[in-house]
Amino acid sequence: MPSEPLIQLSDVHLAFGDTPVLQGIDLTVQAGQAVSIIGPSGSGKSTILRCITGLLRPQRGQIRIGDTQVHALQREAELIALRKQVGFVFQQYNLFPHLSVLDNLMIAPIQVLGRSRAEARQDALALLDKVRLGHKAEAFPGQLSGGQQQRVAIARALAMRPRLILFDEVTSALDPETVGEVLAVIRALTEEGMTCVLVTHEMRFAEEISDQVYFTENGRIVEHGSAEQLFRAPRHERTQAFLQHALGEGGQRPSRPGPDLLSNLGRYSLSV
Ligand SMILES: Nc1ncnc2c1ncn2[C@@H]1O[C@H](COP(=O)(O)OP(=O)(O)OP(=O)(O)O)[C@@H](O)[C@H]1O
Ligand SMILES: [Mg+2]
Repeated sequence: MPSEPLIQLSDVHLAFGDTPVLQGIDLTVQAGQAVSIIGPSGSGKSTILRCITGLLRPQRGQIRIGDTQVHALQREAELIALRKQVGFVFQQYNLFPHLSVLDNLMIAPIQVLGRSRAEARQDALALLDKVRLGHKAEAFPGQLSGGQQQRVAIARALAMRPRLILFDEVTSALDPETVGEVLAVIRALTEEGMTCVLVTHEMRFAEEISDQVYFTENGRIVEHGSAEQLFRAPRHERTQAFLQHALGEGGQRPSRPGPDLLSNLGRYSLSV
């Protein structure tokens, strides 16, 4: 019998003024799964992530993370408690420019979680090693490439020891050469069993690492399924048209693996 999902959205509706943006979203994520949300611009993907963190409150429907009924949280203290459990990494990494990489990782665990400096430092150094940036601990964000800064941002999210991490187009603003190193870090996290929800335009990456993929359009889930089912045998015409456009190959998937991204991932692996 499947265990209860860690994240569950049921019939979530949200409008900005008169504009409906989410129109009945059902989405479930089991602990340890990687789930990707794909779909056209404006289809509501970021809005779904913001609802999961409690940054936006739906007008209708339920959102549960573990035992927390997110849609019903009222007090700021409850929302802060929720956000300690949910890491969120965005396209803009928003590191503190005046703090070293190490201090960027230590500040929230010390100030928000009340950790000692020694413990926070030990954790931060281990996480920097994990994202292959141990040698940059004393650097300032402005001295790093975009891909390196994004890896610091991922380490910063991990420093809070979250139960799950949400990634919103974390590679969209990066130079193509640095995309692979960031994706390699995310892939390693999913392989370790971190629960991840990703909004991404990197279709082949989504296909490679996702347990489930959701395709959204106009604030609705058009279809969802395993990565293999959704990418290789999409049921809906809309999904087919989107993938045809997004894959840019007349919709034909290559018969053998080896498109640029996957080979780049192998090349970058975690040795960068
Ligand atoms: N704060 C806001 N106020 C009004 N409308 C908003 C607000 N935030 C988002 N929207 C609208 O909600 C819709 C969904 O936005 P959302 O950012 O979730 O889309 P998305 O799927 O993440 O798109 P993209 O791929 O471009 O990031 C869009 O039409 C957007 O203009
Ligand atoms: Mg978005």
